[in-house]
Order: sequence, then C-alpha cells, then structure tokens
Amino acid sequence: MKNLDWKNLPFSYIKTDYNVRYIYKNGSWGDLQVSDSEYLNMHMAATCLHYGQEAFEGLKAFRGKDNKIRIFRWEDNAQRMHDTALGIKMEPVPKRIFKEAIFTAVRLNKHYVPPYGFGASLYIRPLLVGFGAEIGVKPSKEYLFMVFVTPVGPYFKEGFKPVDIMICRNYDRAAPLGTGSFKVGGNYAASLISLEEAHKNGFSTTLYLDPKEKKYVDEAGPANFFGIKNNCYITPASKSILRSITNLSLQELSKDMGMKVEQRPVPLDELPSFEETGACGTAAVITPIRKIVDPETNLIYNYCKDGKPGPVSTRLYHKLVSIQFGDEPDQHGWVEFVE
Ligand code: PLP
Ligand code: COI
Repeated sequence: MKNLDWKNLPFSYIKTDYNVRYIYKNGSWGDLQVSDSEYLNMHMAATCLHYGQEAFEGLKAFRGKDNKIRIFRWEDNAQRMHDTALGIKMEPVPKRIFKEAIFTAVRLNKHYVPPYGFGASLYIRPLLVGFGAEIGVKPSKEYLFMVFVTPVGPYFKEGFKPVDIMICRNYDRAAPLGTGSFKVGGNYAASLISLEEAHKNGFSTTLYLDPKEKKYVDEAGPANFFGIKNNCYITPASKSILRSITNLSLQELSKDMGMKVEQRPVPLDELPSFEETGACGTAAVITPIRKIVDPETNLIYNYCKDGKPGPVSTRLYHKLVSIQFGDEPDQHGWVEFVE
C-alpha cells in the first residue's frame, strides 16, 4: 500500500504508476498498451481538440474489510460510454475492451486503492477521444481509448454533510435537444462560469433548470438531484441530464426500503414540499442539500433544519456505501472483484 494521507484525500489528481491505452485505426481496435507516461502524443488536428469529440466516464473501485477490491457497476458505465460515443459520432468501445482496460488499470495500481475505513476510493477515469487529423467538421477515423486511475476522497469537501447550492438562471450546461444526456467534455466546459459564480458566492455547486422553459429542476452540477417526501424518492426525468448510475442505484435501494420511486419532471415550485433533497453521483455519492437559493426570486428553500442530513438520505447513503465496500451483501449484483 502506498503511503498517502488517506484520511484527508481530496478529489483531485494524484499520479499513479500506470495507465492503459487502445488505438482504433484502419477500422479496428488494437491491443492493450500499458504506459507509465502521464502524457499523450497527439496530432495537432485531432478532432477532440477542435470539434469536441471527447467522452469520459467516472467509476470507482473500493477496498473492503477483507482487503478485496470491488468495482461498482462497471457495465453501466460501459453502456453509457457506448451511448455517448454514438451521440457524438465516435467509435464505441467494445464492452470486452472497456472491461479489460478498467480491470487492468486497477490491478496495475492496486497499491493506490485506499485502505478500508477512510471512506476513500480509487476513481477510474475512462476517456475516449477523436485522435485522427481532420480539418473539415466530420468524425475522426481514429480514436484513442484510455483509462487512468487516481485515489480520491469526497468530491464536496464537506463529505456526507449538507451543502448549499444556487439555482443557475443565467447559463445552461446543455441545450434542450443537445448533448446533456451524454458524458462529453463540452457540457462541463459550459458549466464552468456558473460553477465559479456559485463558488464565489459561497455555494458548493449550481442547480441547473431545464434549458427550454426554466420551470423544472434538471441536475445539481456534476450530480443528479433527488427529493424525498411522503416515503417517496423523486428524481427528475429530463432529456438534458446525465443518466446517473448512482441515482439508478438509489432508486433500487429506495424500493428495497419500501419507498415509492417517481422519475418525472420536478417543477421548481415543488421544492418547498420536499422533506429532504440531495445530489447524487459517483464523485458526490450522496451529498445532502441544506439550502437552495434562487438568485432571481430571492427564495430560499431550507432542508436539514437541524444542520444534519435527513434520515432517508442517511439510510440510503449507508446502504449504498456498505454495498460498495462489501459490508453488506450485494443483492443486486453491482460489484465485481478485481482478482
Ligand atoms: N450528472 C452529471 C452531469 C455528472 O457529471 C455525473 C457524474 O458522473 C452525474 C450526474 C452522476 O452520474 P453517476 O452516478 O453515473 O456518476
Ligand atoms: C463523476 O461523478 O464520476 C463525475 O464524473 C463527476 C465529475 C468529477 C465530472
């Protein structure tokens, strides 16, 4: 095991030993290459640099009490990267290659998988980019698929503590019929100004509204949104948000806990009626929301009135991380061991 300050790991890049790469060229994928370089040698006219042919994923590996390493729901990330690739006319990565890449990258860097008990994990970042030179606007004929890993702590520095977020009125991260449901870099570029504004005003992230009407809740920065009321888990259905795998897991766990689940448009004026709200994602896990501020109307929606995460969010959080770290049986078949 590496000697890192596991307890205080930030969510930021830490160099590990190896990454893995595959090249798609002349109509087929090449073999796995292992690299110890953090750099890419790329053509200056590669389509990822000019026309945004770039997709990424994010998933995690966890070390259990038994010292075994578990990867959470990788097949769902493989499928989402496949869908994203098709969404921006890139060559999809076959599932076999996706699996070989992430498992090899974790295995080669297993000393960086944080020890059990610190709430930290190994973040896995698959990346697919248009690699061939083009100058007209068209899809590349060549692609690079690579995976690197980095040990991480909580995304929001508060960890499992309530955060304040700000409704975003002046910007959208995606267009109504745009690429919001794909995990492409452009969506994140489009979010940077609003994120920085939120941070400057003391908020952890922004709450995006539906880009067409600005009447419905979309998502919470790099995480999906959920609300709890009357024993029901409610989360937005929208064409412009990412289909969060964490959110899908929480929906299943809510049902297991005897709750109802609704995935439907969530109007802004429903916000006051929630007993609890939260942001969920691989990086965010569950981040409870204490306060949502609307800068246009000056309305403030308050949750966690005693300053603590709500009871349902707390139960869901513990259930999810217990499965991820192997403390509870994996009834849904979500984890796969790295041998
Ligand atoms: N929404 C956005 C915009 C994200 O970047 C992410 C992170 O991947 C999520 C939601 C959460 O998705 P997941 O739970 O699959 O990580
Ligand atoms: C994730 O939750 O995996 C993300 O990709 C969020 C963010 C770091 C972009």
